[in-house]
Amino acid sequence: MALTAFPWRRAVPRAPCLSVLPPLFCLLLAAAACTPTLPDAAATGDPLPGLTQRELARFESGRALFDRVFTIPEGTGPLFNENQCSACHTFPATGGTGEQLVIKATRRRADGSCDILADEGGENLRRQAIPSLARLGVLRDTIPSATATVATFAVPFLFGLGAADLVPERALLAAADPDDLDGDGISGRVGRTPDGRAGRFGRKADVASLHDFTHLALFNEMGITTSAHPRERGSNGAPLPPGADPVPDPELGDDSAQLITDFVRMLAPPPRRSPEPAAASAIAHGESLFAAIGCAACHTPYIVTGPSRLAPLDRVRAPLYSDLLLHDLGPALASTCAPGATETEYRTSPLLGLGARRRYLHDLRAFTLERAIELHGGEARSARDAFAALPVADRQALLRFLRSL
Ligand code: HEC
Ligand code: HEC
Repeated sequence: MALTAFPWRRAVPRAPCLSVLPPLFCLLLAAAACTPTLPDAAATGDPLPGLTQRELARFESGRALFDRVFTIPEGTGPLFNENQCSACHTFPATGGTGEQLVIKATRRRADGSCDILADEGGENLRRQAIPSLARLGVLRDTIPSATATVATFAVPFLFGLGAADLVPERALLAAADPDDLDGDGISGRVGRTPDGRAGRFGRKADVASLHDFTHLALFNEMGITTSAHPRERGSNGAPLPPGADPVPDPELGDDSAQLITDFVRMLAPPPRRSPEPAAASAIAHGESLFAAIGCAACHTPYIVTGPSRLAPLDRVRAPLYSDLLLHDLGPALASTCAPGATETEYRTSPLLGLGARRRYLHDLRAFTLERAIELHGGEARSARDAFAALPVADRQALLRFLRSL
């Protein structure tokens, strides 16, 4: 299948707009006419088109760290899930998805708030220990208590997420409709971090920035301490036995963590799949149905970035197909809670790169796109029912559109 960028996804040049039209007019048209579209990559896993040589060099150094297998003397463990970012984020290119499922556990406090088990070592359970800890009988984190809810979370694509870091917080707040004041059955809430900031990363939108996620992933998934998480934690929050972790903290310097963050930031959206010209009209029809039946109310085709020092990300429309907000999808998909999310709320999954994935939803439970749609309940019920009610040819067109992403 040929992989070429779709014509309507090509960058709209900014210069003519700014030079020909008065700036105020541009402002009014804002997202519509004057904002260029973030171009996608020639190949999945490539850097954003239009980076400088210096930025490309950072991308390459960051990728090398993302791909690096960290040894125990370099900081891996004492408890960890993997010793490499791309042990999980690997398919079909570095930064992609993988088969691992990360296990999380949370609980509800008596007052109803979400307890991410901070006193018991946190919600992320690590399933491996380095030999020096294993010899002392500690092999992994265990599920904290019978009252905890346990769930598995699949590895998401990281392609194109640099744009999500740049959506101004006020734009997220403006897009949210927590009390469904417009009465369309779809609310949408801004996620929250454990310390109360607005969240946008993670399936529960509980992490504020790519910077924070990188430090968290190093700590939670790999057991590597950084300036943001400088102290190792023992199994389920217990103190570490002496001698279990010989490496002084923090184990990784800020410069290296920043290179990893910048690598993720500079990953381009994957190329759209355009099979043959004849299919383009079916795909365009599918895209219009996607909007007409209400999918695009959450899977908003574009987010608009704020200013960035990286020219390709500077005030562009990025085709994430996500509003980055939390939505209640109903009890069938329930998992753990998060500081700002109930068990049944998830951040709208970005759909870019969908054509390169084979399993869907937060725990990969759906083997087909039809099944993923069928499992949408809650706020998405009417869109789901509208999809089910479409004539077969229209359903096929919509699925074709999804697979073209
Ligand atoms: C053990 C597997 C595993 C490893 C290793 C891992 N990740 Fe992830 N990553 C995941 C899972 C699972 C999620 C989804 C978690 C969630 O949504 O809460 C995720 C989510 C992310 C996200 C957020 C994506 C989004 O859509 O908001 C970023 C960014 C990320 N990882 C970066 C990294 C970096 C950088 C590293 C290495 C330092 C890394 N990950 C290592 C499994 C892993
Ligand atoms: C109310 C908001 C909302 C609406 C409306 C909605 N979705 Fe979703 N969608 C979500 C959320 C939230 C998820 C993540 C659920 C999960 O991971 O368990 C999701 C996940 C998906 C996935 C899986 C993506 C992945 O990465 O695995 C697909 C495919 C999808 N939606 C397609 C659609 C289609 C097609 C429609 C219209 C029929 C639609 N959605 C309507 C919120 C919505």
